[in-house]
Amino acid sequence: MARLDKLYIGTNTKMYKTGAQTAAFLDRLGQNTADLAREALELFVIPSFTSLETAARHAAAAGISLGAQNMGWEDEGPFTGEISPLMLKEVGVKVVEIGHSERRHGLGETDEQENLKTRCALRHGFTPLLCVGETGDQKEAGISDEILRIQLKIGLRGVTAEQAGGLWIAYEPVWAIGASGVPASREYAEERHQAIRRVLVELFGEDAGGAAPILYGGSVNRQNAPELIAMPAVDGLFIGRAAWDADNFNRIIRDVVPLWKGK
Ligand code: PGA
Repeated sequence: MARLDKLYIGTNTKMYKTGAQTAAFLDRLGQNTADLAREALELFVIPSFTSLETAARHAAAAGISLGAQNMGWEDEGPFTGEISPLMLKEVGVKVVEIGHSERRHGLGETDEQENLKTRCALRHGFTPLLCVGETGDQKEAGISDEILRIQLKIGLRGVTAEQAGGLWIAYEPVWAIGASGVPASREYAEERHQAIRRVLVELFGEDAGGAAPILYGGSVNRQNAPELIAMPAVDGLFIGRAAWDADNFNRIIRDVVPLWKGK
């Protein structure tokens, strides 16, 4: 039996797309992918906070799961500019993205903060999408797996094996992300995904540690998506720029769906 029951594909639209643009994007993506059975495809979109309320209606109609790009770790309090799990729950968010490299490296978030957010997300019944990845310097120094291990062991500290089944992990090498990024080779991605899986199994055991999907992100495009998804340890794709045009995203999805055999 396959370890995972679905192929996971999604996009974070970062600080792009207004609510109206997000709604149009979701409608188009929904039309494009309407014939693809959602039992075998977990399609998700993570738009801006101000788009969420509108997006919730459009995403539900299109069979697309909705995510938030960040979340505070307290239910309420004097935390100006933060967003509460209760607020995200109210608008129908399912996935909470935690620790994207632009938050870690652009805004100084720490593994300890990602841990507080992950545990809070699990407590509230969200699916945390914890992003991990080494910088170019760390890769050059040959410590990629050590960095991933630290990010996972601190980021998931206190998470139980029972909760671990509800986690998603994104492997996003920092050097691969964005316009100046270079996509990881499929061999390199596969090795890192295997390293991540070993840590998950060490933390949660074979069953729970084997159940969390590990998605690859960082300059995924139409050229490299098929070869990445064909790798045994790559359970899905987390795409930025190449997914923001619904037609292009649809083409990538259609290229990879037939390649996913159940892992
Ligand atoms: P990219 O973004 O695909 O545009 O490199 C990936 C990400 O930041 O998740």
